[in-house]
Amino acid sequence: MEEVLNSKFYITSPIYYVNDIPHIGHAYTTIIVDTLARFHRLKGNSVFCLTGTDEHGQKIEQSAKKMGQDPKNYVDSISKRFKDLWDSFDIAYDYFIRTTDSTHLQSAQYVFLKMYEKGDIYKGEYEGNYCISCESFFAKSQLMSEKNCPDCGKETTLLQEESYFFKLSAYAERLLKFYDENPDFILPKSRRNEVISFVKSGLEDLSITRTSFDWGIKLPKELLENTPNNQKHVMYVWLDALVNYLSALGFHNDLPNKMDFWPANFHIVGKDILRFHAIYWPAFLMSLDLPLPKHIAAHGWWTKDGAKMSKSIGNVVNPKEVVEAYGLDTFRYFILREVPFGQDGDFSQSALIERINADLGNDLGNLLNRLLGMGAKYFNNKLKADLSELKSTYCDELVQIQTILESLESHINEVQINRYLEELWKLFSLGNGIIAKKEPWQLIKDNKHTEVAQLLLLLANILLKAALFLSPCMPKSADKILKVFGLNANTECFKRFITQGEILDSVILEPTPALFPRIEEKLLQDSNMDLKLESKMQNKESKSTKLEPLEISSPISKDDFMKIDIRIGTIINAEVLPKSEKLLKLQVDLGEARPRQILAGIKAHYLPQDLLGKQVCVLANLKPAKLMGELSEGMILAAKDNNGLAFITPQNKRENGSQIS
Ligand code: ME8
Ligand code: MG
Repeated sequence: MEEVLNSKFYITSPIYYVNDIPHIGHAYTTIIVDTLARFHRLKGNSVFCLTGTDEHGQKIEQSAKKMGQDPKNYVDSISKRFKDLWDSFDIAYDYFIRTTDSTHLQSAQYVFLKMYEKGDIYKGEYEGNYCISCESFFAKSQLMSEKNCPDCGKETTLLQEESYFFKLSAYAERLLKFYDENPDFILPKSRRNEVISFVKSGLEDLSITRTSFDWGIKLPKELLENTPNNQKHVMYVWLDALVNYLSALGFHNDLPNKMDFWPANFHIVGKDILRFHAIYWPAFLMSLDLPLPKHIAAHGWWTKDGAKMSKSIGNVVNPKEVVEAYGLDTFRYFILREVPFGQDGDFSQSALIERINADLGNDLGNLLNRLLGMGAKYFNNKLKADLSELKSTYCDELVQIQTILESLESHINEVQINRYLEELWKLFSLGNGIIAKKEPWQLIKDNKHTEVAQLLLLLANILLKAALFLSPCMPKSADKILKVFGLNANTECFKRFITQGEILDSVILEPTPALFPRIEEKLLQDSNMDLKLESKMQNKESKSTKLEPLEISSPISKDDFMKIDIRIGTIINAEVLPKSEKLLKLQVDLGEARPRQILAGIKAHYLPQDLLGKQVCVLANLKPAKLMGELSEGMILAAKDNNGLAFITPQNKRENGSQIS
């Protein structure tokens, strides 16, 4: 992967809708952005890091109404909650943009006019469906069950209104050529095909104004003069929103001009909004004759108990609660380390505690404690060694350390922060391993002080180099570690110890209390961890009803039921059956001698890569059958409603093969 040659580095998070208060999904994206920004600052690059809020559109207008508030007051209050949260999390953004800023309005109107003058915008009438929740247009043929949004499953609204259109269809060829010439534009690369096939399946022109509500940016005044009817139009919220990445740089507005940061190095987004960033946004930029961003990196979803966290399900984890209980850096470590970039991850306190105790306490914390313990006991904190002797004693180890350090940047450049941390942790294993091998407590007994001092200095060098690379992920903890050696996480130290590879041959250790005390039990009640949404708490009234016998269609006896053998299994492989429109071919581990092959009609609802590792319930004594020439050895249980299809999963992980009764 290319080194960032240009020393300017521009990175953005999505701007979040203010209909929702911040939860760990939002915190995840923002912390990834912050980590990359910090890494590049450390390297000495000039960084611009952007986050903010998306405040227009029908969804926000409706939310404000529901709360009985004027939209502007409403967006002010929720936008502030995002900003306050990022401030309390020490997110080092350079600018916080709001789409209700007058400067943003200037840029959005400029963009509209420019694309209009280019001939890319024309007036017409939109007739089709609209998902207010996703703020997205769909043709009838794209809907699920004739009326539901294919992305979120909610019911769509039928629209028929005058609208301006952007000639998206005219850009399909150029987009495909661009993806082809820039294979790492979309990260992780596994998501690239999804975008390419969407474009190949045919792009329709995009409706970019709405006329049936008010809460949005008006058209530029040049387009209002002779056509009073144009007063009714407000810009489509996704056009308005995407332009934020330019308006923050002072693109044709009154903010200081920082367009030398363009094109962005990274737009970090969740996979739910990849299409808008990888298709619409590049097409708009082509129309504006601006260069395209270097990478769109799309991460997976955080789930809770296997379900996507969402306000409507009511299972959203409050990041503030988690951080107050467990600490900011440990939370950052957990979410950055736990899931491979692009995949979904399930949030649980037990997984968090496991990471804190094992990775942070045992691996990193112990190494530091052992260095500090022996340093104090044997050398009164003053370590000194002969550099050339140290280098020759630990020649192999120093090569290994160097190799690990050199591998790290490529992981960051691919946003594989979990891999980055995993590699970084090899340094701590190496350090702990050397202690076990050398048994310094024996050496001291044999009066080999020089050897022990050398060993401790090697450990000090491992820890300080590792701490420099740790600092973008865990800034406060890294500072504490570096302080032990009288150093700071800054560009100068990075140059000395990483770029130039300096090795310390003497140091006075400054003791620090244990960084990651062991956690014995959950610090939060699960219900305290969840975000309480104002609207949810209102209608709590419970209805008491007299029970009438229900009519049960085709009743069975308990004995009949006992014949059914349902078991828990884990999906360990999933692929599409090229011949079939509906089926995915799964390998499911039911704790038997070999995994079972099961064909499931779920292709429309799940991407194969998103299924890996999921636990499901399998009807295990179903007679095996052949479908499309392939054997299917069971049936996966799922439930379907207007919101789409969902697997039935155990509330907590269970052993494969566990029986359901
Ligand atoms: O889409 N897991 O805003 P939004 C992981 N305003 N990340 C999650 C998540 C989850 N469960 N839930 C949300 C919008 N996110 C538009 C963006 S950009 C020009 C306009 C994160 O408030 C993730 O980054 O719905 C996702 O893409 C984003 O929040 C969506 O935020
Ligand atoms: Mg959303």
